[in-house]
Amino acid sequence: MGLLIGTSSKMNLTSTQAAAYLGALRPMLEGLTDRGLFVLLPFTSIWVARERLTGSNIRWGAQDVHPEDAGAHTGDVSAPMLADLGCTYVEVGHHERRRDYGETDELVAAKVAAAQRWGMTALVCVGEVEHEPFDRVVAHLDRQLALLAAADSRRLVVAYEPAWAIGVGATAAPPEWVGQVHGAIRARLASSGPDAATIPILYGGSVDAAGAPALLEQPEVDGLFVGRQALDPRVFATIAHTSVG
Ligand code: PGA
Repeated sequence: MGLLIGTSSKMNLTSTQAAAYLGALRPMLEGLTDRGLFVLLPFTSIWVARERLTGSNIRWGAQDVHPEDAGAHTGDVSAPMLADLGCTYVEVGHHERRRDYGETDELVAAKVAAAQRWGMTALVCVGEVEHEPFDRVVAHLDRQLALLAAADSRRLVVAYEPAWAIGVGATAAPPEWVGQVHGAIRARLASSGPDAATIPILYGGSVDAAGAPALLEQPEVDGLFVGRQALDPRVFATIAHTSVG
């Protein structure tokens, strides 16, 4: 299984900016075929990704989805709408959505099901909010992962994103900690089905080019999910090219 390296631009990149961003990024990632690459954009810019990335080695996707396929949900966007735009990935359960919209593990599981119903891969973010002892973190992750037992493991990616490591002012979690937690996540996934052993587990939270190699060297770290550093396409390209020994 090759590495999987992706980014969410969060609430950044208008469609005009996304066109410039992807126009710069695409040639920098050309030929990088031994790993999966993806970019998750705001809903309003996904059509640009389809326009600019079709035929490339970069997949695209969304940062959220509504659990239902259609209906009276003003302002929401459904899985068939995203599938129609060629999305491969749909991120669900990011800490900022849990925090800002009170999204629960149950809602996250329903969103995973919606994305998968439409043939897309759900990228589920899990992680503790504050620094906590290892066993408490594992218990928290167990609860978050338990709701994914019904999901199709072939279309699932788990991103470990401790909230304390996300965003301006934060620094990435120490690599050894990440390795330990990823090991626990792998064990939990493996116990829920024979296919679960192949689910990619990404690390996210203040990933930068300098820190990427040490994170990728950790056991059970199958890739990286990059936030603000990837808003510069050159930095994302550098991270995407990180070689592992
Ligand atoms: P950050 O965001 O790299 O800006 O910390 C990561 C994330 O939230 O996925």
